[in-house]
Amino acid sequence: MDIGIDQIGFYTPNKFVDMVDLANARNQDPNKFLIGIGQDRMAVADKTQDAVSMGINATAEYLDQVDLEKLGLLIFATESGIDQSKSASLFVKEALNLPAQIRTFEIKEACFALTASLQVARDYVRAHPHHSAMIIGSDIARYGLSTPGEVTQGAGAISMLIKEDPAIIALEDGHTSHSENINDFWRPNNLATAVVDGHYSRDVYLDFFKSTFKPFLEEKQLAVADFAGICYHLPYTKMGYKAHKIAIEGQDDETVKRLSDNFQLSAKYSRQVGNIYTASLYMSVLSLLENGELEAGDRVGFFSYGSGAMAEFFSGRVVEGYQKRLRPALHARMLRERIRLGIGQYEEIFTEGLQALPENVEFTSDANHGTWYLAGQEGYVRQYKQK
Ligand code: HMG
Repeated sequence: MDIGIDQIGFYTPNKFVDMVDLANARNQDPNKFLIGIGQDRMAVADKTQDAVSMGINATAEYLDQVDLEKLGLLIFATESGIDQSKSASLFVKEALNLPAQIRTFEIKEACFALTASLQVARDYVRAHPHHSAMIIGSDIARYGLSTPGEVTQGAGAISMLIKEDPAIIALEDGHTSHSENINDFWRPNNLATAVVDGHYSRDVYLDFFKSTFKPFLEEKQLAVADFAGICYHLPYTKMGYKAHKIAIEGQDDETVKRLSDNFQLSAKYSRQVGNIYTASLYMSVLSLLENGELEAGDRVGFFSYGSGAMAEFFSGRVVEGYQKRLRPALHARMLRERIRLGIGQYEEIFTEGLQALPENVEFTSDANHGTWYLAGQEGYVRQYKQK
């Protein structure tokens, strides 16, 4: 039985910072950000968008095509959680009126968590063949003003429906995993921004790629040339490019060209959005599918990395007619119609985002009609509304 991705929804907030503006404000050469880091813009979530509202928006994109009677599982992966106890998925479930009988919870392991959700969802569908699972990854990356990590911030969500006979990507059996207890990046409960050892995290990411990629090829008896594309967790696009260079080392010209072209296409959305932690890898998959020209049966590799750290490599095959399931025009418009923030405006939004919400507060949204947003808090209960 083929199991895999049947729907992909994507959401990123309606505001961004241009990397040239940021470089100028930070007295940096713009080429460091544009080329050295490989980012053009970064999405900014104002106080009306949190992990939950972004997750609702990404899911709402395809909800009308889901057979809700068959939905049995909803997993929310995030490292930007809004509560130490209650799952973010319960807010999604209420907002979108999902069935009461589904099993639902939130999970965490840095950026790896959406991959963990995908594997749990796949096992769930294997065990319950006619049922489907919904998985959401949603995050806001915050490092701090004028820090080296600032240029790698971002905000957004990906939501996917996992089921048998999927319309987009059928996952292949097998994966290679690697984990170690290390301190490359983490988000202590008492801090509103991440703690990161940037250069160390970059080295560990590459070490974990080496620990999973070659062993995967050996285990599955595959060659690099058997992949049409390889998608990476993209904390910033240059990071994935470094892993890509390891993957193509010593390959023939045709393979190098195909994988390099498809790498650039997979990085297209990330260049505009920045790091969305749990959802970053899946935003690259969507970017490749919506901007590339993959054919039915093409094999795509997935490299998932989550700080702390945990990595996994696995693969899937593109399904015949997958293009009909995608919404590239909608996503292009969402990215195009964003508001370009001045650095002062961005800094104000950023600083406001670090504050804890008061017990009672009300927000209005400037988002487009139909967008879900955080409308405030009543007695410490977050309120979500649709504009
Ligand atoms: P930095 O120290 O400011 O930058 O921070 P740098 O000095 O390392 O320079 C970056 C690149 O720009 C270098 O290229 C320079 O040569 C180049 P590289 O050697 O890497 O190929 N450069 C220029 N290029 C063109 N023109 C110029 C120019 N100047 C310099 N004029 C760092 C960079 C990534 C460390 C920082 O942004 C950071 O700490 N980011 C956050 C951490 C991060 O994203 N780590 C990635 C791996 S960990 C991960 O992926 C997990 C994560 O997503 C979290 C999770 O799992 O939840 C983060």
